[in-house]
Amino acid sequence: MHLLPLSAALLLTTASASPHHKRATTLIPKTVFDNTANFEQLFNYNYPWGGTTHNGGARMDKAHVAISSPGVLTITAQPVKGQPPATHAGKQIPINYLSGAVGAKQRFTVPQNGGLVFSASFQATTAKGTWPAFWLTAVQGWPPEVDMAEWKGSGKISFNTFNTSSSVQARDVPYPNPEAWHDVKCQLKDNGGGVVQVKYWLNGVEVTTHYGRDYVGKALYLVINLQMEGSSGTPGPSKNTTYSIRNLEVTTL
Ligand SMILES: *[C@@H]1O[C@H](CO)[C@@H](O)[C@H](O)[C@H]1NC(C)=O
Ligand SMILES: *[C@@H]1O[C@H](CO)[C@@H](O)[C@H](O)[C@H]1NC(C)=O
Repeated sequence: MHLLPLSAALLLTTASASPHHKRATTLIPKTVFDNTANFEQLFNYNYPWGGTTHNGGARMDKAHVAISSPGVLTITAQPVKGQPPATHAGKQIPINYLSGAVGAKQRFTVPQNGGLVFSASFQATTAKGTWPAFWLTAVQGWPPEVDMAEWKGSGKISFNTFNTSSSVQARDVPYPNPEAWHDVKCQLKDNGGGVVQVKYWLNGVEVTTHYGRDYVGKALYLVINLQMEGSSGTPGPSKNTTYSIRNLEVTTL
């Protein structure tokens, strides 16, 4: 596991149930959103590969990302006019919103015989034209991509694991009461032969298990963003949309 030089205080360990079991290492502690200084120590603004636009109708900037109260990160998508379009996969996409994306400064890698656990709680909208997401994607090449949670404007939450763009394991489940906090957990574990087993939980209930080919040893970006329109439908809302996350924690297995 490669770590950026963080303060030693952030490299906490979590006691395990059995004294013979290897201790899990905390890679991102639950205090990460307690204040802007903690957040900015571990995250950068905009997409971690560089850039402020991607595959939808939002242009990201720092001004639309905030620690809205101690422990809570909130991204706001604001309708705008007069923005230049984005270009993605050779196509122009109209930009109708300013919004936010943040990426962890650390890269995350499932090592041989190891694993990673990502957990957080969300207030995420499922309205048409809104596309909040919590996801992992390859630092070099593509895939791997693990959509640990995304909401594509359909009233559902989606969990996706990609082998290629056409070979995707995808599970959509109903997502009632989006205005309430919902807990998401995703565990990635070496399954042998370069394959990573990906398990997904929603509100403490295991939802599905996927397998990612050639995922072991591949560095991943962690991205939290509020994209708009694109896969979530058009037009999106004419008012501000918010997406909040708290209790983010990343540990080794
Ligand atoms: C992706 O690859 C894994 C490992 O080979 C396999 O178990 C899984 O079924 C594949 N997914 C799809 C959609 O083919
Ligand atoms: C919409 O969001 C922007 C950016 O956070 C903020 O400046 C503006 O006041 C918000 N507008 C409303 C009507 O809440």
